[in-house]
Amino acid sequence: MYKALRPWLFLLPPETAHEAALLALRVFGTLYRSRPAADGPLAVHTLGLSFANPVGLAAGFDKDGRALHGLAALGFGFLEVGTVTPRAQPGNPRPRLFRLPEQRALINRLGFNNAGMEALATRLRAARPAIPIGVNIGKNRDTPLERAVDDYRLGFAALAPYADYLTVNLSSPNTPGLRALQQPDIARTLLGALREDQAALARRLGRRVPVAVKIAPDFTPEALEALLAVLAEGLCDAVIATNTTVARPDWAHANTAGVQGGLSGPPLAPRSREIISHVFKVLPNIPIIGVGGINNAVQAWDHLVAGASLLQLYTGLVYEGPGLVAAIVEGLQARVRSEGHETLDGALSAARRNLSSKSGPNTVKS
Ligand SMILES: Cc1cc2nc3c(=O)[nH]c(=O)nc-3n(C[C@H](O)[C@H](O)[C@H](O)COP(=O)(O)O)c2cc1C
Repeated sequence: MYKALRPWLFLLPPETAHEAALLALRVFGTLYRSRPAADGPLAVHTLGLSFANPVGLAAGFDKDGRALHGLAALGFGFLEVGTVTPRAQPGNPRPRLFRLPEQRALINRLGFNNAGMEALATRLRAARPAIPIGVNIGKNRDTPLERAVDDYRLGFAALAPYADYLTVNLSSPNTPGLRALQQPDIARTLLGALREDQAALARRLGRRVPVAVKIAPDFTPEALEALLAVLAEGLCDAVIATNTTVARPDWAHANTAGVQGGLSGPPLAPRSREIISHVFKVLPNIPIIGVGGINNAVQAWDHLVAGASLLQLYTGLVYEGPGLVAAIVEGLQARVRSEGHETLDGALSAARRNLSSKSGPNTVKS
């Protein structure tokens, strides 16, 4: 069905098509409500939360949390909303979202267009689906970098009470200077401040809201090492790897010349996976949410084996349609069975053991 619809949808400018899809999902959500399986073979228990399956929606698809019930009804195990900033902001001028249909990829430079943290808090307070919801926070474009920590603290205070986990986005390429927050000293100060807020809120709420850090794929090996050393100091509860890339594969230079922004979709998958497996090696006790280029069950499985406990996707939905979530969930179930296991957990432990006995030392290339 989506195959038939897609050519028509692709006649629209990408952002208009996205708005139409969100509207359709909102309507769908008023008709269908998801009933996640309590404890099926793909269940994941991590971060103090239970997920019916590991397949989540990546940040940016539903920044303002407008279509959560519809998205949950597609079969996702969890959803991440945002990025939201303290104050509403329009983002960059259009056009700012571009399709690369041959590669099933996107380039975006939206720049955190969103309705602000209070609007999202109101929506989450009013009605939310019965699956874990992560909230991704960022800083306003016009907040100077030296005061970025204030924006993240405001976001945390406003949204953590309504979130199952909170994501600190340090890696969007479309807010000038944001990625500088991944530098060790800045990251340490920022995440340290959030750790204090997290503890204070836990005393008030009686619930500790886990903090995930979303990282870029575009690191030199030294810069990645330095950031992971900071995270190893116990400054976050999960790592989300990765955001979009500003790197361009060779083919991209010809047909995306001059198109600035972050590239997502299958061309990003090998790099994301490399970062996932490196983080897994360096921080084996911190859960990883693997994201980047997943558009089928094989890609999903490979990100999991590389070290991810949970997954997210965005661009795959645009090209493969809403049936992708169920297809990946079914594909993963089939894979678990074909590997001779009853649960994802068991299948993954065996596959990772296999992988590490085959591969040599794991290093990350620049
Ligand atoms: C149009 C678009 C908007 C995005 N907006 C955000 C965002 O606001 N915050 C964020 O952390 N990531 C954002 N992302 C990045 C995705 O969450 C994800 O990390 C990335 O696209 C790689 O996954 P994919 O290949 O499955 O799309 C966005 C991606 C796209 C394509």
